[in-house]
Amino acid sequence: MTIALPVLESPALDPQEVVGLHEEIRELARTRNAVILAHNYQRPEVQDVADLVGDSLGLSRTAAETEADVIAFCGVHFMAETAAMLAPTKRVLLPDLRAGCSLAATITAEDVRKWKAEFPDHIAVGYVNTTAAVKAELDYCCTSGNVLAIIDAIPKDRGILFLPDFFLGAHIKRMRPNRRVEVWMGECHVHKAINAKTVNEQRLLLPDAEVLVHPECGCAGQLIYETGLGAVDSNGLHILSTEGMVRHAQSSDASTFIVATEVGILHRMRQLIPEKEFVAADPQAVCQYMKTITLEGLRDALLHDQHVVTVPEATRVAAMAALDRMVQIG
Ligand code: 13P
Ligand code: SF4
Repeated sequence: MTIALPVLESPALDPQEVVGLHEEIRELARTRNAVILAHNYQRPEVQDVADLVGDSLGLSRTAAETEADVIAFCGVHFMAETAAMLAPTKRVLLPDLRAGCSLAATITAEDVRKWKAEFPDHIAVGYVNTTAAVKAELDYCCTSGNVLAIIDAIPKDRGILFLPDFFLGAHIKRMRPNRRVEVWMGECHVHKAINAKTVNEQRLLLPDAEVLVHPECGCAGQLIYETGLGAVDSNGLHILSTEGMVRHAQSSDASTFIVATEVGILHRMRQLIPEKEFVAADPQAVCQYMKTITLEGLRDALLHDQHVVTVPEATRVAAMAALDRMVQIG
């Protein structure tokens, strides 16, 4: 299954318009008792108006606990669906329905059922980047932030089916070489395109920089392989979720970081840690789906109560055990 990449209009807002829209959105959020959640890859001006900016795990946990009536989700569709399942009494709004995910589109519920039939004794573990229907087929759901803790929570003698991200699956195999893991061949078009050659070119220019790599990246395995061969310096190479990158940059002694993931996170890092320098490993690493969410779209979502994301109750009930494990472990 493939999904169309949205063609992006550039909002080209001047600073006054941004201030005006921020005021309008905050007022709407107040009157509707809405919480605005934004993923680390959102546009800077959308991050700046949110109540919380974070990774998939942090946003899911907040959605599960919020006392707000409405969750305005500035992220992609599977994230809004996850919020709708974790907070079934809340109204979850996704400002733009084009906000899909190329990785989530690589597997269907029918694919999972067939795969499980081939490996009936295996435990099915799925990344949060999946549809609700796929989650309903899983034993455990995870994010890049807690994937290893989830693997460790599964009895050692059980084989694992990991889906849908091939590179994250390869990361599990590297980090837990004694586990029996079958990996689905899905990938994210943004992270796949970040290659080791580009990262190594940046390292030559910034030899003292630490390198922060998202495990979905195609370059992660290559960089570790080269490190093992001594081709690149192993010091300062870290495979981390988006929130792990932020935490690491806050606590590290390094002052410069090459960041191998979607470029939206650089805004968050620069806001939180202005004294350090953050450089994109690949400035072209832009998730068009994430960028469909604009301030105007968010304003209209709160104003016109659109687009409400719901999940059929039977699907939600079937997915809840896997989702509860995701929220509670790690
Ligand atoms: P995180 O779970 O690290 O936020 O990543 C989500 C995602 O979509 C990565 O592309
Ligand atoms: Fe999906 Fe990739 Fe965009 Fe993340 S960056 S939301 S995995 S398409």
